[in-house]
Amino acid sequence: MDIIMSIDIKSTNEIIKIRKSCKIASEVLTMIENYIEPGISTEKLNKICHEYIVKKKHAFPASLGYCGFPKSVCISINDVVCHGIPNKKIILKDGDILNIDVAVIKDEYYGDTSKMFFVKDVKKEAIDLCKSTQKSLYLAIKKIHPGMRLRKIGSIIQKYIESKNYSIVREYCGHGIGKCFHEEPQILHYDAYDKEIKLKPGMIFTIEPMVNIGSKNVYTGKDGWTVKTKDKSLSAQYEHTILITNYGCEVMTLREEELLLKQ
Ligand code: MF3
Ligand code: CO
Ligand code: CO
Repeated sequence: MDIIMSIDIKSTNEIIKIRKSCKIASEVLTMIENYIEPGISTEKLNKICHEYIVKKKHAFPASLGYCGFPKSVCISINDVVCHGIPNKKIILKDGDILNIDVAVIKDEYYGDTSKMFFVKDVKKEAIDLCKSTQKSLYLAIKKIHPGMRLRKIGSIIQKYIESKNYSIVREYCGHGIGKCFHEEPQILHYDAYDKEIKLKPGMIFTIEPMVNIGSKNVYTGKDGWTVKTKDKSLSAQYEHTILITNYGCEVMTLREEELLLKQ
């Protein structure tokens, strides 16, 4: 069985469309930063993102209705690992950390990205967790080149995260993306011996490590979506959609603030 055959190589036209979707998703994250303050509900943040995507960018929020997900973005606070459902009763408070995960569809193609936000005065322990999670993503991105083995991405992330004594959530992974939200290949954020696939120019996928301060164990709440750490420790996640190029990779969801990667 040739696993490589199932990984799509995108055409130039597809790349242009995915680039547009990715740009919109990244602009949502930049736009929403100004609204992050104590007292605002995650429902309100969801509404602002929704309106921006639909009215200003003439795109569609990919999460809305995806497998029955009821809102336009995922908002995951503190010990929520991912897939937090925006709710008018969930109010940001001083010291919270939160992930907003934005995926959009524009001209039939998807883009997907997320980052952490800080609500006012966040304790050092939480800031360090977020910085390390982001750095693990950047370390992998910087090493990526065609011909590299897929599993190397996970091994770079795992090595760095575990050197900091954090843990990597195993249940969720990055994914190919294009005309579908989630395509082959799965991008694991830890080293796994069965991934002998080699990266090729034209592949597009996300990398989205979820990192916990405590143990890697998570569970899904009664709403069927909200994933939390079992030990109630803080969790962080950053996500980018990337394109494998002839020389390295293009971060399709790069925000202007992330100058580091442009060098
Ligand atoms: N954006 C998530 C990802 O990175 C998927 C969210 S699915 C939803 O793959 F239904 F929870 F929105
Ligand atoms: Co994703
Ligand atoms: Co996402």
